Amino acid sequence: MTNSLNADDADLVDTDFIDTDTVHIDRVLSTTRSVRRKLDFERPVEQQVIEDCISIATQAPVGMGGENWRFLVVRDERKKSQVAGVYQEVMHELTAARGISIKATHQALMDRMHEMPALIFVCVIGQPESSYSSNVAFFGSILPAAWSLMLALRARGIGTTWTSLLSAREAEIAGILDIPEGVMQTVMLPIAYTKDARLKPADRLAAGEVTFVDTWGSR
Ligand SMILES: Cc1cc2nc3c(=O)[nH]c(=O)nc-3n(C[C@H](O)[C@H](O)[C@H](O)COP(=O)(O)O)c2cc1C
Repeated sequence: MTNSLNADDADLVDTDFIDTDTVHIDRVLSTTRSVRRKLDFERPVEQQVIEDCISIATQAPVGMGGENWRFLVVRDERKKSQVAGVYQEVMHELTAARGISIKATHQALMDRMHEMPALIFVCVIGQPESSYSSNVAFFGSILPAAWSLMLALRARGIGTTWTSLLSAREAEIAGILDIPEGVMQTVMLPIAYTKDARLKPADRLAAGEVTFVDTWGSR
């Protein structure tokens, strides 16, 4: 521990952790894929497990606006069906407008969304102001928590998909779930334990291809 660390930093230093756990952590970080098909729709996801994951999610960075995140876990069969119905409509509208067909994997999620043990809406109290910097701060204070939630779920064998389609029908979803005015919905994570899912790293550009040093464009 060096003298340059302040008290808060010092609390965080744990070198043993770095030696022992990076393999597992890196695996979770690089294999948290969208899981729409290989899911166990019969197996309930315990509320305590979800709340453990939410506790981890709320360790994400948060801007000066403070902890405005709220998590709405929807288990009620009727509400899930209503949400799934809206999701289907948006998907059909969107793909029709773009002249594209619905991929089999997206179709699978759509078809069985109402059977998911739970749908988690990651909500935030407030609205971003119109400026660019306000948007960066606003969404930067909620979306990292949503991603941490996906990671924490993945680490427990629970599959999810990052979905944002429902934001096109925010008012309707608010009506179904009694979400008050002034609360914004960001992503919705449909969750279920995975079943025979083989999750592997995605095919992405190598770090060297997307990283510059000192000057834009310089590698
Ligand atoms: C901003 C954003 C919005 C997304 N919205 C949806 C969505 O509404 N429904 C869905 O099934 N997937 C959605 N996805 C998931 C992508 O389709 C997914 O990342 C893509 O299928 C690649 O798969 P992977 O996550 O396993 O790499 C979204 C992803 C992002 C980043």
